[in-house]
Amino acid sequence: MKNIAVIGAGTMGNGIAHTFAQKGFKVLLIDINEKSIERGMTTIAKNLDRMISKGTITEADKKATLENIITYTEIKDGVVNADLVIEAATENVQLKLNIFKELSEVCDENIILASNTSSISITQIASVVKNPSRVIGMHFMNPVPIMKLVEIIRGYNTSDDVTKQIMDLSKTLDKVPTEVNDYPGFVANRILMPMINEAIETLYNGVAGVEEIDTVMKLGMAHPMGPLQLADFIGLDVCLSILNVMYEGFKNPKYAPCPLLVNMVMAGKLGVKSGEGFYDYTESKKAEKVAKMFSK
Ligand SMILES: NC(=O)c1ccc[n+]([C@@H]2O[C@H](COP(=O)([O-])OP(=O)(O)OC[C@H]3O[C@@H](n4cnc5c(N)ncnc54)[C@H](O)[C@@H]3O)[C@@H](O)[C@H]2O)c1
Repeated sequence: MKNIAVIGAGTMGNGIAHTFAQKGFKVLLIDINEKSIERGMTTIAKNLDRMISKGTITEADKKATLENIITYTEIKDGVVNADLVIEAATENVQLKLNIFKELSEVCDENIILASNTSSISITQIASVVKNPSRVIGMHFMNPVPIMKLVEIIRGYNTSDDVTKQIMDLSKTLDKVPTEVNDYPGFVANRILMPMINEAIETLYNGVAGVEEIDTVMKLGMAHPMGPLQLADFIGLDVCLSILNVMYEGFKNPKYAPCPLLVNMVMAGKLGVKSGEGFYDYTESKKAEKVAKMFSK
């Protein structure tokens, strides 16, 4: 596989594009939103700069990585020469079904179609394509260039051959692929999201503040990041979608999203990507914080 089409240039799509491009693959990065593509490419360049400043890559590596990425705003244009398609668009069932229907029409039947979905059934996604044995879950973790795990999800019809190819490909990216079966939330989010939801519920019930909850989990449980900050990094809308998929999939109230999470998403507080979630990430707030520090 040489040419990898990535659908969606958001948090995950740009990370996936970065990772493949840095390993010498040609990446066809597709997003319906031109602004997302611009933002995605800026993020990739910034992340490469950070790697240069840490001494892990050179300026020449950065240039080569960026040159390996071509951007498109139409799926049909971007996937023409693809050997593999990885969909990393918004976490919404209908949206993903529409994308896979289109992929099934415009791609060769033998191309592997992977989804980076956090929770939506791979079997359901595969049900709308001509060859469901070629559909698989390739669940990268955020931030993709750094995190080692790729959760590989076998749908009901995914073939052994496709699973092996995707496991092998993940290893060429220096990742550790782990095979799991297709049930709501798979493994990663089935365990992670109830913890994040409980942290939000703890805040909602007034048991403790944002920083206190995160400090307890960071220093008490040796988590590198508190659950509320992690939710901000994942995106609160993504967390809400995953919880809803598990809530509906298992018909179990233990996965019901906390009303505070629902409200925050409706209010557009989506975490890092919108500038505000449980913490404030806006530039103006940063400037305010620096000014306060110097006035002391
Ligand atoms: N955020 C995380 O930490 C995380 C981790 C693992 C997996 N995921 C999964 O990755 C996927 C993407 O999540 P994200 O956080 O990057 O979301 P995001 O909101 O940051 O980005 C989604 C992108 O998809 C684009 N898009 C929407 N419809 C499209 C279409 N029809 N064609 C092309 N592009 C389209 C949007 O314009 C946007 O740029 C979701 O399935 C999510 O569950 C997210």
